[in-house]
Amino acid sequence: MNQLIELTKHIKNKELREKVVKVIKETELYNKDFKKYKREDLDRAGSVFGVSSSSMGPVERDIISHTIQVTELVIETAKVFEKNYGLKLDMDSLVAGSVLHDIMKAFEFHRDEDDDLVPTGMPLDHTTLAIAELYHQNFPEDVIHIVASHPGDSGTVSPRSFEAIIFHHVDSMCSVVEYYIETKKKMQQKLMALRRQELLKLNEQSKPTPDA
Ligand SMILES: [Fe+2]
Repeated sequence: MNQLIELTKHIKNKELREKVVKVIKETELYNKDFKKYKREDLDRAGSVFGVSSSSMGPVERDIISHTIQVTELVIETAKVFEKNYGLKLDMDSLVAGSVLHDIMKAFEFHRDEDDDLVPTGMPLDHTTLAIAELYHQNFPEDVIHIVASHPGDSGTVSPRSFEAIIFHHVDSMCSVVEYYIETKKKMQQKLMALRRQELLKLNEQSKPTPDA
């Protein structure tokens, strides 16, 4: 959680920064029907995700690490666009949207006693839930738009500002890279397990058979 709060230092507007910090610290949802869904500790929170073009199945990822990578990259990307395209981007909205875009995933999955990610049964996806909570808390419309449109064409609203377009593409790019990093780890673990099995089999076969 502290790492997410640290990222809010990039938000110059004090009021917006405090609102973002409040969402990071807030562990209850506003709607009384939804209060039964408890937020996973952000430092352990993860989600399961896949890439539609891959047949290698879903992988897990850590919400905080993903948010840090995306936010750092979006800040650098925005600088390049401002320098080379003459755009004037709203960095406060970009950083606020980036920090908050996936935070509601901590209500979608919790970790069981084996540390496995399990769906909580939350009937809304993290984007819808974030829109509802941020709208209720009077967040600026530019921030809500970045969060609402971050899934791109697969979401309910397409990115309509330069900030939202940049954010959607940076988030997607990070997700694809993270997916293949995690998939590679998964494949290596499977390969190691297979090698261990093979070695055990060879050991068994090489044992001298007792005389009859
Ligand atoms: Fe994301």
